[in-house]
Amino acid sequence: MHSIKTVAVLLFWAFGLSALAASHPGNYNSNSLNGLLSDSIQLTEKDIGDFTAIAFGDRTAATTSQQEQQRCRVFPGDGLWPPTEEWTRLNNSLDGVLLRPTPAGAVCYPEHPAYDAARCQFLLQDARSTRFWLDDPLTELAQWTQGGTCLATNQTQAQEKNCTRGGFPEYVVNATTAKHVQVAVNFARNKGIRLVIKNTGHDFGGRSVGAGSLSIWLHHMKETQYLPSFSIGNYTGMAARFGTGIEAWEVSNFMAEHGGITIVAPGGNTVGGVGGWVGGGGHSVVTSTLGLGADQVLSLGVVTADGRYVTADPFTNTDLFFALCGGGGGLSANHPFSPFEATYGIIVSAVYKAHSPITLTSTSLSLTLSSASIPSVPTTGAVVVRTADAFWTGVGLYYRFCGRIIEGGGGQGFSYIYPQADGGFRFTTTSTFLNRSRDEVSQIMEPLYTSLRHAGVLTTADANPATRNSSIYGASRRSGTGDQPVNTRYRSRLLPRANWEGDTRWDATMAAIRAATEAGYDEDFYFHATLTSPTREVAGWPGADNAVNPAWRENLMHAMLMDVQPDNWTGQQARNRDARMQRYMSLLRDVSPGAGAYINEADPGEPEWQQAFFGSNYPRLLEVKRAWDPWQLFWAPTTVGSEGWEVEAVDGYPNSQNGRLCRSAKR
Ligand SMILES: Cc1cc2nc3c(=O)[nH]c(=O)nc-3n(C[C@H](O)[C@H](O)[C@H](O)COP(=O)(O)OP(=O)(O)OC[C@H]3O[C@@H](n4cnc5c(N)ncnc54)[C@H](O)[C@@H]3O)c2cc1C
Ligand SMILES: *[C@@H]1O[C@H](CO)[C@@H](O)[C@H](O)[C@H]1NC(C)=O
Ligand SMILES: *[C@@H]1O[C@H](CO)[C@@H](O)[C@H](O)[C@H]1NC(C)=O
Ligand SMILES: *[C@@H]1O[C@H](CO)[C@@H](O)[C@H](O)[C@H]1NC(C)=O
Ligand SMILES: *[C@@H]1O[C@H](CO)[C@@H](O)[C@H](O)[C@H]1NC(C)=O
Ligand SMILES: *[C@@H]1O[C@H](CO)[C@@H](O)[C@H](O)[C@H]1NC(C)=O
Ligand SMILES: *[C@@H]1O[C@H](CO)[C@@H](O)[C@H](O)[C@H]1NC(C)=O
Ligand SMILES: *[C@@H]1O[C@H](CO)[C@@H](O)[C@H](O)[C@H]1NC(C)=O
Ligand SMILES: *[C@@H]1O[C@H](CO)[C@@H](O)[C@H](O)[C@H]1NC(C)=O
Repeated sequence: MHSIKTVAVLLFWAFGLSALAASHPGNYNSNSLNGLLSDSIQLTEKDIGDFTAIAFGDRTAATTSQQEQQRCRVFPGDGLWPPTEEWTRLNNSLDGVLLRPTPAGAVCYPEHPAYDAARCQFLLQDARSTRFWLDDPLTELAQWTQGGTCLATNQTQAQEKNCTRGGFPEYVVNATTAKHVQVAVNFARNKGIRLVIKNTGHDFGGRSVGAGSLSIWLHHMKETQYLPSFSIGNYTGMAARFGTGIEAWEVSNFMAEHGGITIVAPGGNTVGGVGGWVGGGGHSVVTSTLGLGADQVLSLGVVTADGRYVTADPFTNTDLFFALCGGGGGLSANHPFSPFEATYGIIVSAVYKAHSPITLTSTSLSLTLSSASIPSVPTTGAVVVRTADAFWTGVGLYYRFCGRIIEGGGGQGFSYIYPQADGGFRFTTTSTFLNRSRDEVSQIMEPLYTSLRHAGVLTTADANPATRNSSIYGASRRSGTGDQPVNTRYRSRLLPRANWEGDTRWDATMAAIRAATEAGYDEDFYFHATLTSPTREVAGWPGADNAVNPAWRENLMHAMLMDVQPDNWTGQQARNRDARMQRYMSLLRDVSPGAGAYINEADPGEPEWQQAFFGSNYPRLLEVKRAWDPWQLFWAPTTVGSEGWEVEAVDGYPNSQNGRLCRSAKR
């Protein structure tokens, strides 16, 4: 066991972990309640003029250009790749926001023109505590997805590996208006170039990166608007309109600035508060009471594959709204909504429900399985357990108990099980409750501690650990630093509440969790589980009928095997690991037949991903995809309709985006 603990901390900042005050960057603060300034600046025929490369498309016409007929997307070096003058003209149509960035790590490679030893030291030592990686146009936090090329690394390694562009895009549009997005969409479609959409670049599956592409970078679309009284359909109440580049910490600060109101936001501080998080469903500490991110959406501003800006809501472009909100859910023909991948369109702004202030109260438990003579320190909740059976009994008692208490509209269980250097494991968890006092939380948890004592996991002297003070969710200030590229690969399963019913099924579930996690000792991966219950009931209107994966509605535990791989592995090493991980994952799949996985925190190599990520919504979503994007312009791995194309990766890493995007030979 080496460095995986620190990596875990970097990857998953539990809500509230860092509470440094920070200023709120770059708002336009539009006074109009009708929309954001960034949405109002749109592409016109006058802007297009005689530059046909940025002309709108017609999704009802069957014509295809020479570029669109190619086997592969047009790639740098191809005869059809636009000449420099055409990129310059594109840049002019984009008000000069077209970038051709150098990969950040190039400063570490002596052969590279950008080489700069001091700058390299900064990347290696200090960049993580700044916004550097988050404000970089190319960076993808899961670095294997771009082929692990041009990593920031010290000279010893840099001499062994050259800095190449790898899976990073060729050009980036630093969008701040709907018009920028529209121009880029039209250009990529008309020129047959691969298009990628990047917001924060947090995606674990390589869905915001791609070799030879034009990237639309939505990061700077951060306008916000508070809507004290917003009405649509069955909803009347507070709401907020966000530009699509807003990050979770900025959503938190927005809540604080508006009296501590509640808006469902990701736990990770720098995860997009709209973007891919809401498109894939989007879980949060308050999800068991207020629903998923996708359940908050009331209206969207969208740029579609033909380059048009449209509104999608429960009454307008309802099929698009269905498909853009979560990717799974109710199938009735009258029902809008789904997760928001750039499969059907690019979201440029979103109106979310805002709720009354709520308090969160949390309590932690930690169990360490160790043969070494570490003293037990019960007052901090850190308990040392001496036998593996007692340890796993304790973990199982917690998971079963926690699953049941959140089901009734509680908060969240957030847990890890890490292998330890001495052959043991360490379990940590934080259980968080909404609108409950400290005393109430202690009372809620007491039966768990009683059963842990009866099972001999705790001694009779071990008290129910102190519950932390309550805090108002929307009053917490958060800061937006602390993330850097890592080499994590998720493998995950949404375990349904049916697994909590009856001892036989539960025992089989815990046996699978134990066996999969114990394999992580030799393999160097760890277990992570969030427990939430985003039922259709808590989703309410209009969320209950959106396209969120139906497996989410049945879910109690989102179980993850966190596979942190060395960044110098060969493709063959990665493929071998992949085959072994599939075996551990099958333990979890076998105890949850018919369930699924959460696309945003899953393996892009998930077998039968259509069923796992979208469930019964898949056929309907495919229809929406075909209607709105007949060009298959919006392509990313494991998104709806992506089967027809595949990346011919040059590095041999499973599911890497480092290669040409071509029509799949299988079809
Ligand atoms: C540190 C960390 C913490 C996390 N915490 C949570 C958490 O608490 N809860 C949770 O549910 N998930 C969490 N995640 C997972 C997160 O949901 C995914 O990484 C998600 O893909 C991030 O979306 P993004 O827009 O920020 O990232 P990106 O990588 O930029 O985008 C992800 C995908 O969404 C698409 N996309 C982005 N913006 C748009 C848009 N405007 N319109 C259409 N498509 C778009 C991209 O093309 C890409 O396919 C976390 C991830 C990290 C790295
Ligand atoms: C686009 O134009 C701006 C402003 O003139 C310039 O700074 C930038 O370098 C140009 N981008 C490219 C890729 O040439
Ligand atoms: C450089 O990297 C190598 C290989 O990872 C490592 O052994 C060495 O300690 C590093 N040197 C510095 C100065 O960081
Ligand atoms: C790096 O590039 C140089 C010059 O092109 C080449 O000779 C060398 O083989 C490359 N090294 C690796 C590891 O690919
Ligand atoms: C992108 O645009 C924003 C907003 O105009 C600007 O602040 C930022 O510096 C730009 N980023 C790059 C890398 O050019
Ligand atoms: C929404 O309102 C309509 C009437 O306006 C009602 O028929 C319907 O049941 C309501 N739906 C929900 C989910 O409340
Ligand atoms: C939480 O409590 C506050 C204050 O009493 C109340 O306004 C709010 O509606 C409650 N929220 C939930 C989800 O119970
Ligand atoms: C919790 O609240 C009490 C009083 O309500 C206060 O004395 C104490 O300092 C608080 N603890 C923390 C850790 O904030
Ligand atoms: C990767 O790096 C580790 C140590 O940094 C080294 O032991 C190992 O041999 C390297 N593997 C490859 C394939 O280069």
